Amino acid sequence: MNFKEELQKRTAEAERITMELLPEVSGHAATVMDAMRYSVGAGGKRLRPVMMQAAYELCGGKGTVVEYFMAALEMIHNYSLVHDDLPEMDNDELRRGMPTTHIRYGAGMAVLAGDGLLNYAYETAMKAFAEAKGAEREGCIEALALLAEKAGIYGMVGGQCLDVEAEEKGLNLTQEQILYVYENKTAALLQAALGCGAALAGTDISAKNRADLQKAGYDLGIAFQLQDDILDIESTTEELGKPVGSDERNGKKTYVSYLGMDAAKQEQARLSKEAAALVRALETDGSARAGEAKEFLAELIEHLVERRK
Ligand code: IPE
Ligand code: IPE
Ligand code: MG
Ligand code: MG
Ligand code: MG
Repeated sequence: MNFKEELQKRTAEAERITMELLPEVSGHAATVMDAMRYSVGAGGKRLRPVMMQAAYELCGGKGTVVEYFMAALEMIHNYSLVHDDLPEMDNDELRRGMPTTHIRYGAGMAVLAGDGLLNYAYETAMKAFAEAKGAEREGCIEALALLAEKAGIYGMVGGQCLDVEAEEKGLNLTQEQILYVYENKTAALLQAALGCGAALAGTDISAKNRADLQKAGYDLGIAFQLQDDILDIESTTEELGKPVGSDERNGKKTYVSYLGMDAAKQEQARLSKEAAALVRALETDGSARAGEAKEFLAELIEHLVERRK
């Protein structure tokens, strides 16, 4: 497998699936639909749907039900970014090299575009039920529950809550609190990606892999947010496509400020390695397709250590 080619292919596929499942722009609510398509269409690594599909194949999934969930998760991720960039939150004007949604459409419309994406994510995931057969139906129920949980107050929203509160009140978070923020604002949606992929496959192997996939998602998520915070300090706005120094400007204490840069980089590398090792140790049905998906996923996790955007 040529990793770079495989990544490009899988990213393009995730993007195509997501864009095709977004609503067409029409009718009296056309502006919000346009803003939804704008924010999702601006690019991005498409990491979450790519990971979900790889986890699905790794666990022996062979159908297309996963596609609705891939799109749903990418919509939820994008809604979280649209709201995260609002003046009342991180107040950022650039994302993926483009003006943020509130800069382009105004704050009111950006709030609605986020609301629209969140709701439409579930409308999209529900479409999987019409296609699911046999054990896939059970898998859809499980995946929907996991997606909802990891996106909500016991997941991403919960993490964003303490993040915002710490910033507004100038709190000095403890290590345990910082890890709570990272686990929830970032790791939760990555756990949803891996966990939904496994659940939707609906195989015995999915059940066996579930706990290890959640642990890998946790490690990967902490490493991913560490890298995000490192790049916020060390990258350039041009390379990153979003404003660097956003955390400092907002007076945000990150895990990097807590650990110091060198220790943060070491911890980031350690967690990525651990997550990749967990993935490599997962069970498969022995098929070439599952084996390739597993190797791809492990390499993807390893490559994220060096990501520059
Ligand atoms: C950014 O996520 C928000 C974080 C959780 C750090 P990504 O880095 O995956 O953003 P895109 O989708 O590639 O732009
Ligand atoms: C946000 O973390 C994570 C989300 C849930 C949106 P950041 O605020 O650091 O993400 P960026 O740097 O704006 O992408
Ligand atoms: Mg933020
Ligand atoms: Mg932000
Ligand atoms: Mg950041």
